[in-house]
Amino acid sequence: MKILITGGAGFIGSHVVRLFVNTYPNYTIHNLDKLTYAGNLANLTDIENQPNYQFIKGDIVDAAFITALFEKEQYNAVIHLAAESHVDRSITNPLEFVMTNVIGTVNLLNAAKSLYNKGAGPFKRFYHVSTDEVYGALGETGMFTETTAYDPHSPYSASKASSDHFVRAYHDTYGLPAVISNCSNNYGPNHFPEKLIPLCINNILNNKPLPIYGKGENVRDWLYVIDHARAIDIIFHKAKAGSTYNIGGHNEWTNINVIRLLCQILDKKLNRPAGTNEKLITFVTDRAGHDLRYAIDATKLKQDLGWVPSVTFEQGLDATVDWYLNNSEWLNNVTSGNYTHYYEEQYAKR
Ligand code: NAD
Ligand code: TYD
Repeated sequence: MKILITGGAGFIGSHVVRLFVNTYPNYTIHNLDKLTYAGNLANLTDIENQPNYQFIKGDIVDAAFITALFEKEQYNAVIHLAAESHVDRSITNPLEFVMTNVIGTVNLLNAAKSLYNKGAGPFKRFYHVSTDEVYGALGETGMFTETTAYDPHSPYSASKASSDHFVRAYHDTYGLPAVISNCSNNYGPNHFPEKLIPLCINNILNNKPLPIYGKGENVRDWLYVIDHARAIDIIFHKAKAGSTYNIGGHNEWTNINVIRLLCQILDKKLNRPAGTNEKLITFVTDRAGHDLRYAIDATKLKQDLGWVPSVTFEQGLDATVDWYLNNSEWLNNVTSGNYTHYYEEQYAKR
């Protein structure tokens, strides 16, 4: 089986690539990535020389390039993760999200459809990795299920909702064997420090303020990235064409409590007196259109395919902090250069 994984140099993609390359030596894994600010080949140094792995630098928005690549390689399956993924960037520059997340996805669907129609390959699976943010925001109660109506609010979630709709349309109209999963917030090693948890780890290490939007009462349902990759493996191999699965950890936390826990873990690991890091917490202007709460009901995935998360939040967060402490070169590299400019733009006026 020859599989194209897109966005495999990013946070979640690199864990998916690693899991597939190591678990399935008989599969050929191609990793297609544009290497935007979020893509980093340093995430994959441990597997870059494996005989069943190849990296391809390219842009999914370039239709001619994608068509030629699929014709040449005759893929049997696609696992599509390439995307612009940060809500705050989508508020600043929505069009880039339409280009990569919508147009890029449709380019991949067209190329996959033409292989599927030929029936030669054969093309077996188009897997779209998506987000629970397509469902909008919950109030104090309730959970997202696979039948919750789409109600995206941010330009990011609107672009992901649109790409989900296109994937379903290609299944319903052309019979493309597509599946979708919608996952809650991930955390773990290799997470780019624009997102809440790695941004605050980096700021604690540098004794910088921890910017909490609004009152810190927004709730997210956190899942360890390796558990997400395990779910993708199971869904890829076992889900019926046309199906959707929600993935989540039953692990809801307010932002302020996540950051308090992180401060406590890092007080201990950095030998700082208890309470030192919490003094860095700073409440800043809220995100526009900030969704109050996300929570995933992952019962279908558990009942149909037997997936459950393997680590608790405390274990996962502890392992994540250790990863950042042991990979200071990675962190220094991604926070030099353009990151400083991004940080100034996002936070200086907040
Ligand atoms: P990321 O931003 O860390 O990585 C995205 C990757 O896509 C990068 O390697 C980047 O170089 C690549 N890319 C971007 N534009 C491209 C283009 N035009 N052509 C080719 N490659 C391109 O994102 P992530 O957090 O790893 O998320 C991966 C996927 O999972 C996304 O589709 C995202 O919507 C989805 N998702 C993320 C989360 C989360 O919590 N991070 C949760 C659920 C779903
Ligand atoms: P983020 O990691 O950007 O993920 P998402 O917006 O996709 O859920 O944000 C997680 C939560 O943390 C979200 O409620 C916004 C909040 N947040 C802050 O309070 N401060 C920050 O600096 C960032 C980046 C996020």
